[in-house]
Amino acid sequence: MKIIPGVTTQVLAARIATELGTRASLCEFKRFPDGELYTRVVDEIKGEEVTIVQSLMADTGLISLLQLIDAVEEAHKTTVVIPYLGYARQDKRFKPGEAISSRAIARGISFAGIVDRIYVVNVHNPAVLRYFDVDAKDLNAAPLIGDYIAQRAIQDPVIIGPDEGARELAKEVAEPHGFDFDVLEKKRISGDQVQIKPKEVSVAGKNVVIVDDIISTGGTIAEAAALLKAHDANDIYVTCIHGLFAQNATLRILNAGVKEIIATDTIQSIFSEISVAKMIADELST
Ligand code: R5P
Repeated sequence: MKIIPGVTTQVLAARIATELGTRASLCEFKRFPDGELYTRVVDEIKGEEVTIVQSLMADTGLISLLQLIDAVEEAHKTTVVIPYLGYARQDKRFKPGEAISSRAIARGISFAGIVDRIYVVNVHNPAVLRYFDVDAKDLNAAPLIGDYIAQRAIQDPVIIGPDEGARELAKEVAEPHGFDFDVLEKKRISGDQVQIKPKEVSVAGKNVVIVDDIISTGGTIAEAAALLKAHDANDIYVTCIHGLFAQNATLRILNAGVKEIIATDTIQSIFSEISVAKMIADELST
Protein backbone atom coordinates (compact mmCIF):
# COMPACT_ATOMS: atom_id res chain seq x y z
CA MET A 1 0.00 0.00 0.00
CA LYS A 2 1.29 3.48 -0.87
CA ILE A 3 0.73 6.20 1.73
CA ILE A 4 0.26 9.59 0.07
CA PRO A 5 0.67 12.57 2.41
CA GLY A 6 -1.26 15.79 1.92
CA VAL A 7 0.56 19.09 2.21
CA THR A 8 -0.33 19.79 5.86
CA THR A 9 -0.46 16.22 7.23
CA GLN A 10 2.99 14.96 6.31
CA VAL A 11 4.20 13.98 9.79
CA LEU A 12 1.19 11.80 10.58
CA ALA A 13 1.28 10.24 7.09
CA ALA A 14 4.95 9.37 7.60
CA ARG A 15 4.16 7.85 11.01
CA ILE A 16 1.34 5.74 9.54
CA ALA A 17 3.68 4.56 6.80
CA THR A 18 6.30 3.60 9.39
CA GLU A 19 3.70 1.63 11.35
CA LEU A 20 2.90 -0.23 8.11
CA GLY A 21 6.57 -0.94 7.47
CA THR A 22 6.83 1.37 4.47
CA ARG A 23 7.65 4.97 3.59
CA ALA A 24 5.26 7.77 2.69
CA SER A 25 5.36 8.49 -1.04
CA LEU A 26 7.17 11.59 -2.10
CA CYS A 27 4.90 14.41 -3.29
CA GLU A 28 5.72 17.86 -4.59
CA PHE A 29 3.81 20.82 -3.22
CA LYS A 30 4.32 24.41 -4.22
CA ARG A 31 2.39 27.64 -4.60
CA PHE A 32 2.03 29.59 -7.80
CA PRO A 33 2.65 33.34 -7.54
CA ASP A 34 -1.11 33.96 -7.28
CA GLY A 35 -1.36 31.62 -4.28
CA GLU A 36 -2.78 28.58 -6.06
CA LEU A 37 -1.51 25.23 -4.78
CA TYR A 38 0.35 22.79 -7.06
CA THR A 39 0.45 19.11 -6.14
CA ARG A 40 2.21 16.17 -7.78
CA VAL A 41 2.57 12.59 -6.60
CA VAL A 42 6.08 11.65 -7.63
CA ASP A 43 5.77 7.87 -7.11
CA GLU A 44 4.12 5.72 -9.80
CA ILE A 45 0.67 4.78 -8.46
CA LYS A 46 -0.96 3.19 -11.53
CA GLY A 47 -2.68 -0.05 -10.45
CA GLU A 48 -1.52 0.37 -6.81
CA GLU A 49 -3.52 0.47 -3.61
CA VAL A 50 -3.13 3.98 -2.19
CA THR A 51 -4.09 5.76 1.02
CA ILE A 52 -4.19 9.54 1.06
CA VAL A 53 -3.77 11.21 4.48
CA GLN A 54 -4.88 14.82 4.80
CA SER A 55 -6.72 16.70 7.56
CA LEU A 56 -9.16 19.46 6.71
CA MET A 57 -8.33 22.23 9.17
CA ALA A 58 -8.15 25.03 6.64
CA ASP A 59 -9.03 25.50 3.01
CA THR A 60 -5.51 24.48 1.96
CA GLY A 61 -6.16 21.02 3.37
CA LEU A 62 -9.25 20.61 1.24
CA ILE A 63 -7.57 21.76 -1.96
CA SER A 64 -4.62 19.47 -1.27
CA LEU A 65 -6.96 16.52 -0.70
CA LEU A 66 -8.98 17.17 -3.86
CA GLN A 67 -5.78 17.47 -5.90
CA LEU A 68 -4.38 14.23 -4.48
CA ILE A 69 -7.60 12.34 -5.17
CA ASP A 70 -7.43 13.53 -8.76
CA ALA A 71 -3.72 12.71 -9.00
CA VAL A 72 -4.24 9.06 -8.00
CA GLU A 73 -7.14 8.38 -10.36
CA GLU A 74 -5.27 5.47 -11.94
CA ALA A 75 -4.78 3.67 -8.62
CA HIS A 76 -6.45 0.30 -8.21
CA LYS A 77 -8.01 1.19 -4.84
CA THR A 78 -8.09 4.55 -3.05
CA THR A 79 -8.61 5.06 0.68
CA VAL A 80 -8.80 8.56 2.11
CA VAL A 81 -7.90 9.19 5.76
CA ILE A 82 -9.07 12.57 7.02
CA PRO A 83 -7.75 12.61 10.60
CA TYR A 84 -9.51 15.92 11.31
CA LEU A 85 -12.65 16.40 9.26
CA GLY A 86 -13.12 20.15 9.44
CA TYR A 87 -16.40 21.88 8.70
CA ALA A 88 -18.24 19.09 10.57
CA ARG A 89 -19.72 21.62 12.99
CA GLN A 90 -21.81 23.07 10.12
CA ASP A 91 -23.77 19.83 9.98
CA LYS A 92 -27.15 21.32 9.11
CA ARG A 93 -28.78 24.49 7.85
CA PHE A 94 -29.15 26.79 10.87
CA LYS A 95 -30.43 29.77 8.83
CA PRO A 96 -32.15 29.78 5.44
CA GLY A 97 -29.71 30.03 2.58
CA GLU A 98 -26.74 28.57 4.46
CA ALA A 99 -24.49 25.96 2.91
CA ILE A 100 -24.39 22.66 4.78
CA SER A 101 -20.61 22.80 4.65
CA SER A 102 -19.98 19.22 5.79
CA ARG A 103 -22.23 17.96 2.98
CA ALA A 104 -20.58 20.21 0.38
CA ILE A 105 -17.18 18.84 1.39
CA ALA A 106 -18.36 15.23 1.40
CA ARG A 107 -19.82 15.67 -2.07
CA GLY A 108 -16.54 17.15 -3.30
CA ILE A 109 -14.45 14.32 -1.86
CA SER A 110 -16.69 11.57 -3.24
CA PHE A 111 -16.53 13.15 -6.71
CA ALA A 112 -15.85 11.10 -9.83
CA GLY A 113 -16.06 7.81 -7.93
CA ILE A 114 -12.28 7.63 -7.32
CA VAL A 115 -12.45 7.18 -3.54
CA ASP A 116 -13.40 3.69 -2.28
CA ARG A 117 -13.49 4.25 1.48
CA ILE A 118 -12.93 6.99 4.03
CA TYR A 119 -11.66 7.09 7.61
CA VAL A 120 -11.97 10.03 9.98
CA VAL A 121 -11.00 10.39 13.65
CA ASN A 122 -13.52 11.55 16.28
CA VAL A 123 -15.60 13.59 13.88
CA HIS A 124 -17.54 16.29 15.74
CA ASN A 125 -20.88 14.87 14.63
CA PRO A 126 -20.77 11.33 13.19
CA ALA A 127 -24.11 11.99 11.45
CA VAL A 128 -22.25 13.96 8.75
CA LEU A 129 -20.65 10.73 7.52
CA ARG A 130 -23.91 9.93 5.76
CA TYR A 131 -23.11 12.72 3.31
CA PHE A 132 -20.30 10.66 1.77
CA ASP A 133 -21.27 8.39 -1.12
CA VAL A 134 -18.81 5.71 0.04
CA ASP A 135 -18.22 3.84 3.31
CA ALA A 136 -16.94 6.28 5.94
CA LYS A 137 -15.82 5.13 9.39
CA ASP A 138 -15.12 7.18 12.51
CA LEU A 139 -12.11 5.98 14.54
CA ASN A 140 -12.04 6.69 18.27
CA ALA A 141 -8.85 8.18 19.76
CA ALA A 142 -10.34 8.61 23.27
CA PRO A 143 -8.67 5.42 24.61
CA LEU A 144 -5.30 6.79 23.48
CA ILE A 145 -5.84 9.89 25.62
CA GLY A 146 -6.80 7.70 28.58
CA ASP A 147 -3.69 5.55 28.13
CA TYR A 148 -1.52 8.66 27.89
CA ILE A 149 -2.91 10.11 31.12
CA ALA A 150 -2.39 6.77 32.88
CA GLN A 151 1.17 6.53 31.64
CA ARG A 152 1.94 10.11 32.81
CA ALA A 153 1.04 8.97 36.30
CA ILE A 154 -0.90 12.13 37.16
CA GLN A 155 -2.10 11.45 40.70
CA ASP A 156 -5.83 10.63 41.00
CA PRO A 157 -6.90 12.64 37.97
CA VAL A 158 -10.52 13.70 37.51
CA ILE A 159 -11.51 13.84 33.85
CA ILE A 160 -13.79 16.79 33.08
CA GLY A 161 -15.69 17.53 29.87
CA PRO A 162 -16.35 21.27 29.49
CA ASP A 163 -19.99 20.70 28.53
CA GLU A 164 -22.62 17.99 28.16
CA GLY A 165 -21.47 17.39 24.56
CA ALA A 166 -18.13 16.13 25.90
CA ARG A 167 -19.64 13.63 28.37
CA GLU A 168 -19.14 10.55 26.18
CA LEU A 169 -15.55 11.53 25.41
CA ALA A 170 -14.78 12.09 29.12
CA LYS A 171 -16.32 8.72 29.93
CA GLU A 172 -14.35 6.90 27.21
CA VAL A 173 -11.11 8.49 28.43
CA ALA A 174 -11.78 7.81 32.12
CA GLU A 175 -13.58 4.49 32.44
CA PRO A 176 -10.94 2.01 31.24
CA HIS A 177 -8.56 3.36 33.91
CA GLY A 178 -11.12 3.83 36.67
CA PHE A 179 -10.67 7.63 36.76
CA ASP A 180 -13.54 9.77 38.05
CA PHE A 181 -15.22 11.84 35.36
CA ASP A 182 -17.82 14.57 35.12
CA VAL A 183 -18.94 17.47 32.92
CA LEU A 184 -19.44 21.13 33.72
CA GLU A 185 -22.99 22.33 34.00
CA LYS A 186 -24.33 25.82 33.47
CA LYS A 187 -27.12 26.77 35.88
CA ARG A 188 -29.06 30.03 35.65
CA ILE A 189 -29.38 31.38 39.19
CA SER A 190 -31.23 34.56 38.26
CA GLY A 191 -31.86 36.73 35.22
CA ASP A 192 -28.25 37.86 35.01
CA GLN A 193 -26.40 35.25 37.06
CA VAL A 194 -25.08 31.99 35.72
CA GLN A 195 -23.25 29.41 37.81
CA ILE A 196 -20.95 26.88 36.13
CA LYS A 197 -19.72 23.92 38.15
CA PRO A 198 -18.99 20.20 37.89
CA LYS A 199 -22.29 18.33 37.94
CA GLU A 200 -21.45 15.66 40.52
CA VAL A 201 -17.75 15.31 41.33
CA SER A 202 -15.83 17.68 43.63
CA VAL A 203 -12.53 18.88 42.13
CA ALA A 204 -11.18 20.63 45.24
CA GLY A 205 -7.56 19.64 45.80
CA LYS A 206 -7.62 17.25 42.84
CA ASN A 207 -5.66 17.16 39.61
CA VAL A 208 -8.01 17.74 36.71
CA VAL A 209 -7.72 16.76 33.06
CA ILE A 210 -10.14 18.63 30.82
CA VAL A 211 -10.98 16.73 27.62
CA ASP A 212 -12.67 18.08 24.51
CA ASP A 213 -12.83 16.92 20.92
CA ILE A 214 -11.74 20.25 19.38
CA ILE A 215 -9.85 23.26 20.67
CA SER A 216 -10.34 26.15 18.31
CA THR A 217 -10.21 29.63 19.87
CA GLY A 218 -9.63 28.14 23.30
CA GLY A 219 -12.63 30.01 24.72
CA THR A 220 -14.41 26.89 25.96
CA ILE A 221 -11.32 25.51 27.69
CA ALA A 222 -10.24 28.86 29.17
CA GLU A 223 -13.67 29.32 30.73
CA ALA A 224 -13.68 25.76 32.05
CA ALA A 225 -10.16 26.06 33.49
CA ALA A 226 -10.89 29.36 35.24
CA LEU A 227 -14.00 27.84 36.73
CA LEU A 228 -12.17 24.73 37.93
CA LYS A 229 -9.50 26.93 39.52
CA ALA A 230 -12.26 28.81 41.32
CA HIS A 231 -13.42 25.42 42.64
CA ASP A 232 -9.92 24.84 44.07
CA ALA A 233 -8.71 22.29 41.53
CA ASN A 234 -5.02 21.47 41.90
CA ASP A 235 -3.08 21.05 38.60
CA ILE A 236 -5.15 21.47 35.44
CA TYR A 237 -4.18 19.66 32.26
CA VAL A 238 -5.97 20.10 28.95
CA THR A 239 -6.26 17.36 26.36
CA CYS A 240 -8.03 17.29 23.03
CA ILE A 241 -8.24 15.17 19.93
CA HIS A 242 -8.01 17.99 17.40
CA GLY A 243 -5.91 21.01 18.38
CA LEU A 244 -6.59 23.85 15.96
CA PHE A 245 -5.28 26.53 18.33
CA ALA A 246 -6.75 29.38 16.30
CA GLN A 247 -5.75 32.99 17.00
CA ASN A 248 -4.53 33.39 20.59
CA ALA A 249 -5.99 30.11 21.88
CA THR A 250 -2.72 28.96 23.46
CA LEU A 251 -2.33 32.14 25.50
CA ARG A 252 -5.96 32.16 26.58
CA ILE A 253 -5.66 28.61 27.86
CA LEU A 254 -2.32 29.06 29.62
CA ASN A 255 -3.41 32.39 31.13
CA ALA A 256 -6.42 30.61 32.62
CA GLY A 257 -4.01 28.63 34.81
CA VAL A 258 -3.57 25.48 32.75
CA LYS A 259 -0.36 23.57 33.49
CA GLU A 260 -0.07 21.69 30.21
CA ILE A 261 -1.83 21.29 26.86
CA ILE A 262 -1.80 17.90 25.16
CA ALA A 263 -3.28 17.05 21.75
CA THR A 264 -3.11 14.23 19.25
CA ASP A 265 -1.36 14.56 15.90
CA THR A 266 -4.50 14.68 13.74
CA ILE A 267 -3.39 18.29 13.38
CA GLN A 268 0.34 18.73 13.83
CA SER A 269 1.37 21.23 16.52
CA ILE A 270 3.88 21.51 19.35
CA PHE A 271 1.20 19.99 21.58
CA SER A 272 0.84 16.79 19.50
CA GLU A 273 2.04 14.38 22.19
CA ILE A 274 -0.32 11.53 21.34
CA SER A 275 -0.13 9.83 17.96
CA VAL A 276 -3.12 8.31 16.20
CA ALA A 277 -0.78 6.69 13.63
CA LYS A 278 -0.91 3.16 15.02
CA MET A 279 -4.69 3.23 15.42
CA ILE A 280 -5.05 4.27 11.76
CA ALA A 281 -2.40 1.82 10.52
CA ASP A 282 -4.10 -1.05 12.38
CA GLU A 283 -7.40 -0.16 10.72
CA LEU A 284 -5.80 0.10 7.27
CA SER A 285 -4.25 -3.31 7.58
CA THR A 286 -7.48 -5.13 8.56
C1 R5P B 1 -18.02 22.34 20.56
O1 R5P B 1 -19.10 21.80 20.39
C2 R5P B 1 -16.73 21.61 20.51
O2 R5P B 1 -16.83 20.36 21.11
C3 R5P B 1 -15.62 22.41 21.17
O3 R5P B 1 -15.92 22.57 22.54
C4 R5P B 1 -15.51 23.77 20.53
O4 R5P B 1 -15.43 23.64 19.14
C5 R5P B 1 -14.27 24.48 21.05
O5 R5P B 1 -14.20 25.73 20.43
P1 R5P B 1 -13.38 26.91 21.10
O6 R5P B 1 -12.00 26.41 21.39
O7 R5P B 1 -13.40 27.98 20.05
O8 R5P B 1 -14.09 27.33 22.34
